[in-house]
Amino acid sequence: MKIAFFDSGIGGLSVLHHAMGMLPREEFIFFADEENVPYGTKSREEILQFVDEAFKFLIGQKVSAIVVACNTATSVAVKKMREKYSLPIIGMEPALKVALDLYPERKVLVAATAITITGEKIFELIERLDAKNFVELKALPRLVEFAERQEFNSAEVENYLRGELADYDFEKFSSLVLGCTHFNYFKDTLRKILPSQVKILDGNAGTVNELIRRTKLKSARAKEFSSVKFFYSKKLVTDAAELARLEKYLKRLDDMEALT
Ligand code: DGL
Repeated sequence: MKIAFFDSGIGGLSVLHHAMGMLPREEFIFFADEENVPYGTKSREEILQFVDEAFKFLIGQKVSAIVVACNTATSVAVKKMREKYSLPIIGMEPALKVALDLYPERKVLVAATAITITGEKIFELIERLDAKNFVELKALPRLVEFAERQEFNSAEVENYLRGELADYDFEKFSSLVLGCTHFNYFKDTLRKILPSQVKILDGNAGTVNELIRRTKLKSARAKEFSSVKFFYSKKLVTDAAELARLEKYLKRLDDMEALT
């Protein structure tokens, strides 16, 4: 089956990476909207337009399902895209339910973009889970910039995170939920900063499981490789140096996946 993964940039590779490990026989298209990244600092109207354009292109590629591997785009546009198209559209949801189920002792910090943490969708989720008193929300916009330039564990990244997280009393928290797909590249630095009882959770497994459920695909752990075509906005990536750069992200994700 031909399945598209869509993100503002290279964050969505973390969801694709997880899917490649579970669905080795499928044909994937990865669409990074590199012309418009970051989304998290733009207006909702602009983001909706970018997503609309990307969807038109992906529908033209005759995909059978679209994974919106971007929390920000999900927050702004997934409802509208579902009204417009009938194919399965799978969005991202911060792994708040998993966090509350697995680690209910203390609070959850959800880190995401400013658009995600001020959007209706996150407040609906918190309400649905009756979790208002157990959740705090934090925007970490610079992680998107760092990820886009492959700056994963420099002193600048560490200083930024230490500065942004300095005001939290982490004794009161049992998990950090990554509510932005770009944040998956920083699990090692976060692990270094956070006390060990604070578990780091992402939404990748939940999203891929939902994809499998909606498409009725059979997951497998065969020694086959899923085929992937990469697009930057609507341009197919063919340049060897650029493909090597994407490989480097996927390699980084191999290392980050095991960290919790
Ligand atoms: N990767 C996106 C997310 O999951 C957003 C990053 C951005 O473009 O600001 O929210």
